[in-house]
Amino acid sequence: MSQLTEHIDSFLNAEKVRQLFPVLGQKVNGKELIYFDNAATTQKPQNVIDAISDYYAQYNANIHRGLHSLAEKATAAYENTRKTIREFIQANEVEEVIFTSGTTESINLVASAFGRKFINPGDEVIISELEHHSNIVPWQMICEEKGADLKAIPVDEKGDLDIHAFRNLLSENTKIVAINHVSNSLGTINPVKNIIEIAHQAGAVVLLDGAQASAHIDIDVKDLNCDFYAFSAHKLFGPTGVGVLYGKRDLLESMSPYQGGGEMIKEVSLEKTTYADLPYKFEAGTPNIADVVAFDEAIRFVKSLGKKENILGYERSLLDFATELLKQIPGLKIIGEANEKIGVVSFIVEGLHHFDIGMMLDAKGIAVRTGHHCTQPLMQSFGIDGTVRASFSIYNTLDEVSIFVESLKEIVEKWR
Ligand code: ALA
Repeated sequence: MSQLTEHIDSFLNAEKVRQLFPVLGQKVNGKELIYFDNAATTQKPQNVIDAISDYYAQYNANIHRGLHSLAEKATAAYENTRKTIREFIQANEVEEVIFTSGTTESINLVASAFGRKFINPGDEVIISELEHHSNIVPWQMICEEKGADLKAIPVDEKGDLDIHAFRNLLSENTKIVAINHVSNSLGTINPVKNIIEIAHQAGAVVLLDGAQASAHIDIDVKDLNCDFYAFSAHKLFGPTGVGVLYGKRDLLESMSPYQGGGEMIKEVSLEKTTYADLPYKFEAGTPNIADVVAFDEAIRFVKSLGKKENILGYERSLLDFATELLKQIPGLKIIGEANEKIGVVSFIVEGLHHFDIGMMLDAKGIAVRTGHHCTQPLMQSFGIDGTVRASFSIYNTLDEVSIFVESLKEIVEKWR
């Protein structure tokens, strides 16, 4: 315990960091809030909250359209976030950064626009059993439309992908491999660099769902050599309703628009429309300006924490501590003990339903997620219908982990 404490203190001062998050300083059901649902959404620091209200209070205007001062200020702030994101993910050009409403829309964009152009009857799309529904259903839809086959890489009992099976699934018909960088339900960090290399050798392009990775792992799309990378602001201390699709320029240029409307056109006549250049070709309609602007502040906050490896190191310390203590609870089984994990621990308790555990923890002020976590195929592969999931962030502390485990012990002793 003391070693762990030292380890944590040497990386981050969580007590100091949490002061920046107003929501964390409250009582829920009469107890100090312990927020362990960070994989669902992270809390927001004050600078992000302020950026949203400053935008509406001081320079709300539509972007890329007006010549007046407010419109110019709003446009500059919006495009500034694009520059920040380019640098954050090491993309070559700002044109490769497309704003969407979130990871789900980013994946739907690719499934629809790439799929319509490049997926033909008899082609194959490979996903994995570890995927969130948002990286399953869009592919099922396009495969059904095009008469293509959807295949899934199996997951082993520890929660790691079977890379050998992946090699066998690939064929000359595989058009795209869509895999998460990190599993939302189990926390598994997938060997994505290896997966990308293998897929490219087979001639397939690769989309990474980075929703659960971006707050914990450095994203370098050039080093990864992924073709598409999708993530959301709200899992990265930013607002809901904003996300990013990174795509390699050549691929994005070869795809037709995802949605039609204002902003994505060069010229419209009733006979014919020509489309705008990247990135606007994929940004039809008035975007979520305030939240894109505030996203910049979220990145500023993340950068202020220092190196991502230190953030992950800290969260893993919380994970190791929690895992060790949870294993001592009778009847508790951890689901997912992959070789590489972020700070996510999923578990079931024999004789107790995960929903009941979640509600009883909530009564003690502890927020966890329960259920299938939008990964029903993964739950089926483990033969369960859901888990309790605790997911840690940089503002959580060892003390919170101790209280969580003690509370859970009380629940299990009383009700099991
Ligand atoms: N995808 C989010 C989660 O895992 C909502 O909880």
